[in-house]
Amino acid sequence: MKFPSIGTLFPFFFLPSAQAITWTAAPFNPPSIPLAVRTPYLSAWLPQGPGAALNDVWPTFWTGSILGWAGFVKVDGKAYSFLGAPNVPSATFTKAVQKSFQFTSTQSIFVLSAGPVDLTVTFLSPVEATDLVKQSIPFAYLAVSAASMDGAAHSVQVYSDISAEWVSGNNALIANWSTTTGSILTHQVQLQTQSVFSELNDHIQHGSAFYSTSNIPGVTYQTGGDIAVRAQFINNGRLPNTRDTNFRAIQDNWPVFAFAHDLDMVTGATTPVVVSVGHVRDPAIRYVVAGGGTQSRSVYFWSQFSTPAALISSFLSDFDNSLARAKAFDNKVNLDSSKISIDYAAIVALSLRQALATIEITITKNNDGTWNTGDVLVFMKEISSNGNMNTVDVIFPAWPGLLYTNPLLGKYLLEALFRYQATGLYPNKWSIHDLGASYPQALGHNDGNDEAMPVEESGNMLIMALSYAQRTGDTSHIIQYNKLLDQWTQFLITDSLIPANQLSTDDFAGHLANQTNLAIKGIIGIKAMSQIAQILGDPAKGANYSSIAADYVTRWQKLAASSTGQHLTLSYGDSSSWGLVYNLYAEKLLNFSIFPSSIYTMQTAWYKTVAQPFGIPLDTRHTYTKTDWEIYTAAIVTDNAARDLFIGSVKKYASSGVSSQPFGDWYETTDGRAQGFRARPVAGGHLGKVSWAIRCLSFLITSVDELSDSLLGSVNLQSMLLKPLEVLTLPL
Ligand SMILES: *[C@@H]1O[C@H](CO)[C@@H](O)[C@H](O)[C@H]1NC(C)=O
Ligand SMILES: *[C@@H]1O[C@H](CO)[C@@H](O)[C@H](O)[C@H]1NC(C)=O
Ligand SMILES: *[C@@H]1O[C@H](CO)[C@@H](O)[C@H](O)[C@H]1NC(C)=O
Ligand SMILES: *[C@@H]1O[C@H](CO)[C@@H](O)[C@H](O)[C@H]1NC(C)=O
Repeated sequence: MKFPSIGTLFPFFFLPSAQAITWTAAPFNPPSIPLAVRTPYLSAWLPQGPGAALNDVWPTFWTGSILGWAGFVKVDGKAYSFLGAPNVPSATFTKAVQKSFQFTSTQSIFVLSAGPVDLTVTFLSPVEATDLVKQSIPFAYLAVSAASMDGAAHSVQVYSDISAEWVSGNNALIANWSTTTGSILTHQVQLQTQSVFSELNDHIQHGSAFYSTSNIPGVTYQTGGDIAVRAQFINNGRLPNTRDTNFRAIQDNWPVFAFAHDLDMVTGATTPVVVSVGHVRDPAIRYVVAGGGTQSRSVYFWSQFSTPAALISSFLSDFDNSLARAKAFDNKVNLDSSKISIDYAAIVALSLRQALATIEITITKNNDGTWNTGDVLVFMKEISSNGNMNTVDVIFPAWPGLLYTNPLLGKYLLEALFRYQATGLYPNKWSIHDLGASYPQALGHNDGNDEAMPVEESGNMLIMALSYAQRTGDTSHIIQYNKLLDQWTQFLITDSLIPANQLSTDDFAGHLANQTNLAIKGIIGIKAMSQIAQILGDPAKGANYSSIAADYVTRWQKLAASSTGQHLTLSYGDSSSWGLVYNLYAEKLLNFSIFPSSIYTMQTAWYKTVAQPFGIPLDTRHTYTKTDWEIYTAAIVTDNAARDLFIGSVKKYASSGVSSQPFGDWYETTDGRAQGFRARPVAGGHLGKVSWAIRCLSFLITSVDELSDSLLGSVNLQSMLLKPLEVLTLPL
């Protein structure tokens, strides 16, 4: 199949976007707005489609199921809703009017007018990757401030609540709850029947949700049925400090957990009312160990806090500093990414939170009961394509984001994979695909029946292991797991030049033999092992593998070329086929130059001729594409016009108003529709590695990373074996 060459005739920026929004949106109105997005289980979004104000719809979990989160404000006795879509038949209120919306890498900020007062509603989900305690805290902030717009003083009270929908994937289940008072007010809610390490509709069925605020003058609370509690505030502007102890199903007269803050008379802008929302469980992860048993692992923050109450107290009192750090981080990310383009900066800002919210940082206990912070493993949930853990070909496209924020997170993700495979429990000679079919159980695949992507995953592990060592100077992995790395290299030497019929990471496209792009992955993997051998002091082995890789490149060029001479094929011998050759990105990442530059220039010219209205198709089998692979390709094309074609396409898709799902990486280039994700059955292997969060994000940051120092700072940079590449600014 061949597509019409419309790219240059039909510029990607030509169509107006389909937004029907009545507020100003900066940098644009995304498919879904991150509200509280920090872990696979703390993931609250505001679905947009063509546009929805903060008080038009309910926030949802990433799956699309509602998370009750309501907000009202009273101004001079008149009530307005500002958050969620509550229905309170027994009380009178109107909707505040959304004036603006803005997102950064960590914040989503709304301004709504409620009569003479403007409310600024800030949702902050910190990204603090270099601080393992802070990054691991499964909490986010909601901050609401009010300002008089007419110079007069106005009486203002602010209300918000969450429902018990935050603790289960089944609203028929029974929840219980409690409220603690003291210097902090905390509502805690959980399922009455707990189920450790167990998910239902992607919600964890274990642990508790917490909704908290500082117990300052003017704060009141209430728990009870949604209509009664909300009517109480709407009618009275305050809550009676009462508790509903009639524990019942989540959907039975919907219990809600509410706070009201009396701001008294407001003239200028107030300091914000700050509320935290979070979800805590312990233990968090079950992980297979040598001998075939399992261990229970806990989230890293426990090393610092012995109770959720201590954690919440610290988190709430840290708000001002946390916001200051977030702003500095946002500015740094924006500065780095804006060097590429404004569109690129917008994509990156939308991607970062969601990427980091797919991981959890874990530790174990020593025999004496103290925390062992020397035993850190990070786990990643594939999310939406399925619930696989630490999927190697999902970590690979996430890799640039990890390098940019903290390469150690990448090391700890790989460590979980290396450690398991070093036990010998995994029987295959190639790298495993994932650590377990279903988060949060990392049980490995002792039967070897994981979703086989032998060349893909073996190449990925070698590339990422070397990349980490290059970036950090830390050679501990390549030393400790040298045997595994060499084993995977032997497999690549046998199977990567002529890849057997197998899946690549794009498994939703099916099996294919002789995949051109997959062979590149394998060959770069072999070259990576040659570099690893060099670093480890075995130059003979290094030279041998290097010459094998060079020989394979020569032979690959003949096998992979189209007879037209215009492009590489999708698979050997199929001259009319082509695809995004995104695996060449790994060559640039590792600073190799084994593939001739003529390949890059040829592909760059070709992509421009096959663009569809919303992007460049992944390959000739379909018209869909992947945002991560588009950005990987954007990072290696040889001119800025091609680079901006890819970036502009992703931005156009993300801002088109077509989707209402959290930023999805798999979409249709003809009309910008998001593909798959929520609508597909869980664990559909053919859906593949299409994790919106990880993928989109990863790629983008990649390019950012190329342009800036790591956030780790100059100290760590000095110890790097290789300096960061500047792919996008260097001519190839
Ligand atoms: C709620 O249920 C949990 C789990 O069964 C139990 O541990 C807890 O004591 C209960 N809390 C209340 C307030 O009843
Ligand atoms: C793969 O390519 C090789 C080399 O051209 C060829 O010999 C082999 O038949 C191809 N395999 C398939 C399944 O097409
Ligand atoms: C190079 O490596 C290959 C694959 O491991 C091996 O078969 C071959 O003997 C090696 N050659 C030399 C000269 O060491
Ligand atoms: C990349 O490799 C080349 C040699 O091929 C070397 O001259 C250059 O310094 C390397 N770049 C970095 C950033 O390490």
